[in-house]
Formats: sequence, C-alpha cells, structure tokens
Amino acid sequence: MQAKTASLIPNQRSLFDIPDHIAYLNCAYMSPLLKSAAEVGERAIASKKQPWHTTSEDFFTESEATRSLFAKLIGADADAISFIPSASYGIAIAATNIPIGEGQEVLVLAEQFPSNIYAWERAAEEQGGHIQTVASPAETENGPDWTPAILDAISERTDIVALPHCHWTDGALIDLAAISNKAKSVGAALVLDVSQSLGAMPLNLVDIDPDFVVAPTYKWLLGPYAMGFLYAAPRWQNGRPIEENWLNRKGSEDFAGLVDYEDNYQPGARRYDMGERANFQLMPITRCALEQIADWGIENIAATLQTKTNAIAARATSLGLTVSAPELRAPHFLGVRFPDGVPDRLLDHLAKEHVYVSLRGTSMRVTPHLYNTDEDADRLFSALQAVL
Ligand SMILES: Cc1ncc(COP(=O)(O)O)c(C=O)c1O
Repeated sequence: MQAKTASLIPNQRSLFDIPDHIAYLNCAYMSPLLKSAAEVGERAIASKKQPWHTTSEDFFTESEATRSLFAKLIGADADAISFIPSASYGIAIAATNIPIGEGQEVLVLAEQFPSNIYAWERAAEEQGGHIQTVASPAETENGPDWTPAILDAISERTDIVALPHCHWTDGALIDLAAISNKAKSVGAALVLDVSQSLGAMPLNLVDIDPDFVVAPTYKWLLGPYAMGFLYAAPRWQNGRPIEENWLNRKGSEDFAGLVDYEDNYQPGARRYDMGERANFQLMPITRCALEQIADWGIENIAATLQTKTNAIAARATSLGLTVSAPELRAPHFLGVRFPDGVPDRLLDHLAKEHVYVSLRGTSMRVTPHLYNTDEDADRLFSALQAVL
C-alpha cells in the first residue's frame, strides 16, 4: 500500500489537546484540531475585532497560499483547486457540469455517504438517467472486495462513476486506478469523494486521473468544519459554477473596479470557489493543518496509521471479532464486525470508559491518528472485553 520509502512517525499526542484518559479512536467522525491550528484560529477570530487591519490583499494572499499548499499535497496544479464548504457542494459542482445521457447511469456503491448520492439523484432525474447502485459484495474470508463488483458494473451505459477511496462505514478499500481504466474505456467520468481518506493515504492523481475530487478538511485533513477542497481536472476548468460570486471574477483584486461588471472568471478552477472563500477565520486554521500534514508526509502518515490499525486488528481477531485483510482495507481505517451481533448500547459502554469509536451499520469503526497511543488501544480492549 504505502511506498517503500515511507518512515514511521513517532507519537504526536503532545501536539493535540487530548487528556491521557481519553482514547479518541474516531478520526473518521471528526479530527481534533492541532493545538497550533487552534491558536492560529483564536488569533484569526480576534482579528475581526479590529477589521481596519484587514486589507484588500488579505482577501487573496492567505487563500492562495492555502490553495497552493493543498495542490502540492496532492500533486496537482494550484489552478486545479477550488474552495468548497462541504463535500456535497463539490459534488454539486461535478453534477452540474458532467452530462448524463438519456437512459445512462451514474454508478455508486450501496450505503455510500449521501453527500455523493443526492446531487446525482437530482441530475439523473432531470436528464432522464438512472442511478446504478453496486450491491455490497459477498464477504470473502478477507472481507468485502468492492473492486471486482465495481468493475463488473461499469458498462457502456455508465456515464459517471461516483466513488470514495474507501467505504465510509468500514474502510473497505477500492482500487481506483483499476476502476479509472475501466471507466475511461467506456468514456465514463470519475468523481471521487475522498473525505474519508485524503490526508491519511496517498491519492495518485497521475494513475487515477479523476474528473473531480472533493475533500472536506474536518476529518483526515485535520482542519476546521465548513472548509474543503475541490480538484477539477484541466478538462473541467471551463465549467459552470453553482453560484456566481464577485471574488472569483477576473480582476476582483481591484475593489474600486468591482462595479465594472466582469464576465470572465479568475483562472482555472477558481471559478468554482465558494462565496467568501477568503474566510479569514477558517483559512489560517486550514493552512496550519495542511502545513503539518505536509511536514509529516502523507505516505508516512499512512504507514504509521497502518501499524496502529494492524495492531488493533490482531487484538480484535484474537477476541473472535472479524476485520478485513490489510489488502482489502484502507491503512487508517478498521471496520470491526461482531459475529454474534453488535453488543447492546456498545457506544455508551465504551464512552463510559472514555473510549470513542463509531458504529456504522454493523461495523465498529476504529479510526486512529498519530495522537493515539498503545494505552488507547488497551483502554479500547479492556472496555470491549467487559461487554462481549
Ligand atoms: C464519505 C463521506 N463524505 C462526506 C462526508 C461529509 O459530507 P459533507 O461535507 O457534505 O457534510 C462524510 C462525513 O461523514 C463522509 O463520511
């Protein structure tokens, strides 16, 4: 999964504000902010008390630096990146721009996260197309394997393949390079919601060549809520935004000239930027989080998180619980299944012991990050043993 050169990152808990007795194993729900990012954010909020310090350049400098930083992190050009407030906003941009032919299909997964469903339902309905849902694959002894099922489902009828990199309920991994090949062979577009993977595992844009990619920052990118990024491939950078705002029009840097209305947009994917994208409060937090991720390196984060999930998986298996084999799950994400059913009020029992995970469907999602220690895993298993 991770490149051979990846190195393991030592524990980073001191960078976060997580008391020792808390076992927070729920990054897939919401990551904690870095202390440094929170401090930057507090200063950013305070700056609104004295708005006379905010210049017209400030509407552009911080956001352009953050755009470039994100672009570098995923190996893209800054012109391919726009700011979005949510995954659903980014999917709406993709759905506005990629046509669906009459009788043609948008392919999604069973139980896919709704932000990557609803815009497609509307677009398909309006254009006479359909949603095709890939059923959950049968469990193999290694866990569910989505990739062959998705490859099978892509046909000449497919216009759009709208997927995650790993399933949000249990971390089941999807081979996007193989799927991209098949999608391209039938002329289908590929749209990715990487909310549950970007920041924790690499996304190879060169091999996958997606049409659009969306990623909010509040999970694995360690950023704030209501801030995210859209990648639009060069072939989609002349498309139609879902709102028309003044900041993304050409020449908007000249505030005095704003009433000379302008038909052209700022270059590249900037045309899709959400309104008020300068976001003076959230932007510096986002930038700080991305700087830290860049500093650690995504390959290294993935390798390190994989050692944590592997260790938890081994202990879960020895208790008679089941998890997918490493090749069928994302490195940062465990879906633990209970052969005798999920114990009653499992989450309440765990929370009483200060252990935080999620339940999605029949999977207990255990999603650690660099702040998690061996003691957190001990706490999880002693609380689990008490309820099994
Ligand atoms: C796969 C996936 N996509 C998107 C989101 C969040 O979507 P939005 O940013 O539209 O609220 C989540 C949240 O859990 C998710 O798991």
